[in-house]
Amino acid sequence: MNILGISAYYHDSAACLVRDGEIVAAAQEERFTRKKHDHEFPQNAVDFCLERAGIEAGELDLVAFYDKPLLKFDRLLETYIGYAPRGFKLFRMGLPLWLRQKLHTPRELDRGLRGGYKGRYVFTAHHESHAASAFFPCPFEEAAILTLDGVGEWATGSIARGEGNRIQMLQEMRFPHSLGLLYSAFTYFTGFRVNSGEYKLMGLAPYGEPIYRDVMVEKLLDIKEDGSFRMNMEYFGFCDSDVMTSPKMDSLFGGPPRKAETDISQREMDIAASIQVVTEEIVLKIAAHAQELTGSRKLVMAGGVALNCVANGRILREGPFDDVWIQPAAGDAGGALGAALFTWHQLLGKPRQANPDDHQSGSLLGPDFSSTEIRGYLDSVGAVYEAYDDESELIDRIAGAIADQKVVGHFADRSEFGPRALGSRSILGDARSTEMQSVMNLKIKFRESFRPFAPAVLREKVDEIFDMRSGENSPYMLLVAPVRQDKRLGSTETGQSRGLEKLKDVRSTVPAITHVDYSARVQTIDAQHHPRFYKILKSFEARTQSPVVINTSFNVRGEPIVNTPEDAYRCFMHTNMDVLVLENCILAKSEQPNAADIDASAYLAEFALD
Ligand SMILES: [Fe+2]
Repeated sequence: MNILGISAYYHDSAACLVRDGEIVAAAQEERFTRKKHDHEFPQNAVDFCLERAGIEAGELDLVAFYDKPLLKFDRLLETYIGYAPRGFKLFRMGLPLWLRQKLHTPRELDRGLRGGYKGRYVFTAHHESHAASAFFPCPFEEAAILTLDGVGEWATGSIARGEGNRIQMLQEMRFPHSLGLLYSAFTYFTGFRVNSGEYKLMGLAPYGEPIYRDVMVEKLLDIKEDGSFRMNMEYFGFCDSDVMTSPKMDSLFGGPPRKAETDISQREMDIAASIQVVTEEIVLKIAAHAQELTGSRKLVMAGGVALNCVANGRILREGPFDDVWIQPAAGDAGGALGAALFTWHQLLGKPRQANPDDHQSGSLLGPDFSSTEIRGYLDSVGAVYEAYDDESELIDRIAGAIADQKVVGHFADRSEFGPRALGSRSILGDARSTEMQSVMNLKIKFRESFRPFAPAVLREKVDEIFDMRSGENSPYMLLVAPVRQDKRLGSTETGQSRGLEKLKDVRSTVPAITHVDYSARVQTIDAQHHPRFYKILKSFEARTQSPVVINTSFNVRGEPIVNTPEDAYRCFMHTNMDVLVLENCILAKSEQPNAADIDASAYLAEFALD
């Protein structure tokens, strides 16, 4: 039985194909269209899923959509009426799209499937989709389920319990009170883009002090013991205007929001630190409440807030659960996966067998390309490359280049489903380098200098570098952990430098991946989830005695992660990357005939700043 899951029309559209309960394919539309967070119908992702499954739309048994558009419209209407006449401009802005498209989702789906599908459409609730994406692929037989995001229909967060092939929804929090929207409000206030810059806000937090924590808790929020809360809507604008905060917010933080792309001041850093602490406090309370409600020792999570890996790390270390699993496509793209799995297990009652390695297959669920296709492309553009038939020689060359301080673009296997690059579409570098963070930020990715880089570490060595349990699992880079005390360099204790000056401190023996507060967003690599990446790390360790490399997504600022060999080659040629690996082919920048004539600025201009 083939079930197609679709998420669309908000942000991060995606498609997923589940066959007899197994995830055959999943991909996000932005990777194909090269438009970050693309919200249109995921035509390319749907076509890819069908092709990968080897079927036509007419052979689909069911198509599941990740939310209930009519209920969402109901929320819009009620919010408008509740705030009328103030919200009219916002309502009028949104209405045409609803009338043209969103209220006619079945018709739009028919069109997207080119009239080939004659069966039923299933509409799962937004937070059911998130909950299903968290629980059904997870390695546990039973678990507490926590979903937290901006908003779906009415729900902004939910607690559920999963057991076997069933999910029981237990409690929800409702719009406008929302942890995701609260975090996004400060993403907006600090001058970053909503539904995109939340990650930057989290990365900025360690540069500041949480001096606004009390103001936020006292003026903006009424937090209950169980972690649920109400927001004082006088300070927020998202119900009745086209911005996230109201002018009243400015008075609490000494002035209006930062304008995008202007200098970041200590105020923004302190706001970032404050909202991060408040978020962590709330998430920890909700997690404790979820444990009491469900009695479970395991927790699974999804929804955009579950991408806050600093909060996730605290749940794991300080919370009441023994084990935590987080859906790697925790945002709305993962709703496509959840809708399909919810249909299979919950609606059709099909059994589920938990897999100790999980059912997510390393989240390598997107397209891949054969060596023949890659060589055909490289020959067509006159690229100079070497193809390796011997795998161990290939792996040694890649590891050797990283050890020689080269910045290596690595493109192999199926692409990742979810916002993090996990080795298939990654840029790799030596974490021991003191220059790598600034080189990679400014010359490779052309992004803000303060942004940290994440480590990929051999799973069996994770406790040698980080304060984590021996063999602890974080295959999807969704947990932050501290760098071990004995790896830190004592001369630069936090507190001596202020603000962005902290960047210059050499903080540890792996400075390129140690954030200014000595934390790191860790991806553990094992042979089950990411076999090729594991071999590269083993070879790197044999040469250098270091089991850790930098792993950052293969793209420049504003660009979706590369999807095809052509995307990768273009990105490589327009940045200061030294080496490009495409499956078994290796290219050195210095050997490319036209490398010197290429203009990076024209390439960067193709992508809107995120
Ligand atoms: Fe969501």
